[in-house]
Amino acid sequence: MGKIAPSILSADFAVLAAEVERVRAQADLLHVDVMDGHFVPNLTIGAPVVKCLRPHTDLYLDCHLMIDNPGDLLDDFAKAGADSCTVHVELGDPRPLFDRMRAHGMRVGLVHNPETPLDAVLPFLEEIDILLFMSVHPGFGGQSFIPEVLDKLRAARQIVDERGLAVELEIDGGINVATAPIAAAAGADILVSGSAIFHADDPAAAAKAIRDAAWPELVPS
Ligand code: DX5
Ligand code: ZN
Repeated sequence: MGKIAPSILSADFAVLAAEVERVRAQADLLHVDVMDGHFVPNLTIGAPVVKCLRPHTDLYLDCHLMIDNPGDLLDDFAKAGADSCTVHVELGDPRPLFDRMRAHGMRVGLVHNPETPLDAVLPFLEEIDILLFMSVHPGFGGQSFIPEVLDKLRAARQIVDERGLAVELEIDGGINVATAPIAAAAGADILVSGSAIFHADDPAAAAKAIRDAAWPELVPS
């Protein structure tokens, strides 16, 4: 069963709880994009916002850390109520971060950029819950999907299935009704979508349209 993760990056931060409510009926997780202005050239939100959001929703908070120093902030995210943190493999050995996340009872995510080879994340497949594929260069919402990422996704799908692993494959960037079916066919379990959902007049309907496009076999006839 595929999942939709609306990215609050494209929501109106001034009324975040209301924005979450608008999408809640069609959201399986909420994707939280944390950017520090160093790892990526944009600055967004951090653990204090997760802490404020936590009492307003029981949705899974899927925190994507695009920051140089995730190790300094994991404790804050755990205490704020994050269900998982996803760290970039480009920063170096993620194992010490995995251990810290597990100690806090968080699920563990690992993410790689479009140009990072799949080989960089394969050694960790047995140790993670979520493998995230960036299908845009991280930093901004509203960019175009990079289709070359699909080859990596297909290869990972095959490996995960062959080994019988429980890791979920998530894809992030440029997901809309046109790209969702391609990503789902390549093996994605979780589709992150920001601008296509929150810039729509009805975010829940937009999320449902993406879900139905991705997994049409689940649409009641
Ligand atoms: C980009 C973020 C994405 C972003 C996706 O760095 O990681 O999660 O919100 O936005 P869209 O869906 O607009 O490409
Ligand atoms: Zn993201």
